[in-house]
Amino acid sequence: MSGKKGRWMGLAKGVGSVLRKVRRRFRDGLRLASRGQKENLERYRQERECRGVIAAAKPLVISVVSTGRCNMACDMCVTHSRRIPADRRWAQNPTKDMDVETFREVLDRFPEAAQVHIIGGGEPLLNPDFFSLVELGAGRGMAVKTFSNGVALGPSIARLLDSPLHTLTVSINGHAPEEFARMTGMDPGMYGAILMNVGRLTAARDRRLSPLVVNASFILDKTNYVHVPAMLETAFGLGVDGVHLVSFLPSPCDGYRVEERTITTDDAAIVGFLRRAVPAGLRRRVSLPTVLDRGASAKRCSCHWAQVRVNGNGEVSSCSMMLLNMAGHGTIRDGSAMEVWNSAWFQGMRAKFLSEGKDALELPCTVCVDNFGVSPWDDESDALTDRVSS
Ligand SMILES: C[S@@+](CC[C@H](N)C(=O)[O-])C[C@H]1O[C@@H](n2cnc3c(N)ncnc32)[C@H](O)[C@@H]1O
Ligand code: SF4
Ligand code: SF4
Repeated sequence: MSGKKGRWMGLAKGVGSVLRKVRRRFRDGLRLASRGQKENLERYRQERECRGVIAAAKPLVISVVSTGRCNMACDMCVTHSRRIPADRRWAQNPTKDMDVETFREVLDRFPEAAQVHIIGGGEPLLNPDFFSLVELGAGRGMAVKTFSNGVALGPSIARLLDSPLHTLTVSINGHAPEEFARMTGMDPGMYGAILMNVGRLTAARDRRLSPLVVNASFILDKTNYVHVPAMLETAFGLGVDGVHLVSFLPSPCDGYRVEERTITTDDAAIVGFLRRAVPAGLRRRVSLPTVLDRGASAKRCSCHWAQVRVNGNGEVSSCSMMLLNMAGHGTIRDGSAMEVWNSAWFQGMRAKFLSEGKDALELPCTVCVDNFGVSPWDDESDALTDRVSS
């Protein structure tokens, strides 16, 4: 390519990127929060200071278990792993795909939610109603976000760009085929297909000046953190907008325990490395994993006040991290929205997070970064700064 042609192409890319950002601003501006959404957010903020087992504010986020099916069976996945025993009491129970009627019932009860996350259960795109769910959520003024493993993304690219989806995050989980295979246990050959699909998606997004946000995500553990620079190079080389580096969620079995995999505040050298691993110019586009502070006692998890999770059976719960069994907690049809949201089960769960100490917590919550995590970039965090600087 001649220097002149290269300069023109660089200029065209820059202009395209600005136009996409303008469209994104315009889209987000048009999705002005309804009065109900604004009032609910205000109520939630006020309630934060004095939480009780009865929630006054309705959920800010609707988390949808799109399907129970997946086209992969990743080793580290608490739902589909063939290595993590599936008989744990927190394991996801069998569920139907979320359908349009059930989702409408959810939206009718919780129209004050600002976001819909279609993530859980398996591979969201396998649900034949996926795009209808996106339309419905966006039609209520909610930002609809989803995740995909990227393997079967190819045929859906045009529909994704036509849809009002706000954000798609692709789980890349490796800077190279060998690391992808170590983390997931899947065929390293799948890695190339995932990268190719992400590249095709961002190229089509750029051509169409689509406002869709495309992110990449990588799970970090005590082994692969050294590859963060290569992960960022891989992801940004594919044209993604942002990168999520997330903490390894442990399971109580060999090879998956906290001590073996999850980065904690005791791993001072790793935390120090992470702090330096992201160039200053990329900080706004990269989120570092929350680091588990096993010595912390203040419980930070707010999901039972902020998020309602619903599956295709109509069953409700809150947690989308590790407490995935939704059987027996009630359904979306058990009365009015506030009766569902303040049921005996929700009150019991909130009581666990309001109690003193850790004894009342479910076991996964005692090692969950959403509960006892600190950001490596949070310089206010005493535990972390003390240990890292010592
Ligand atoms: C459960 S998957 C569902 C969506 C889709 N199948 C995917 O893989 O993106 C949602 C996210 O959880 C992540 N995940 C799976 N097992 C994990 C673990 N043990 N620790 C942290 N994240 C995990 C996946 O990498 C993915 O980014
Ligand atoms: S692709 Fe997602 S849901 Fe499927 S097994 Fe992997 S992490 Fe689990
Ligand atoms: S602490 Fe973690 S596992 Fe427990 S409810 Fe909160 S997000 Fe879920």
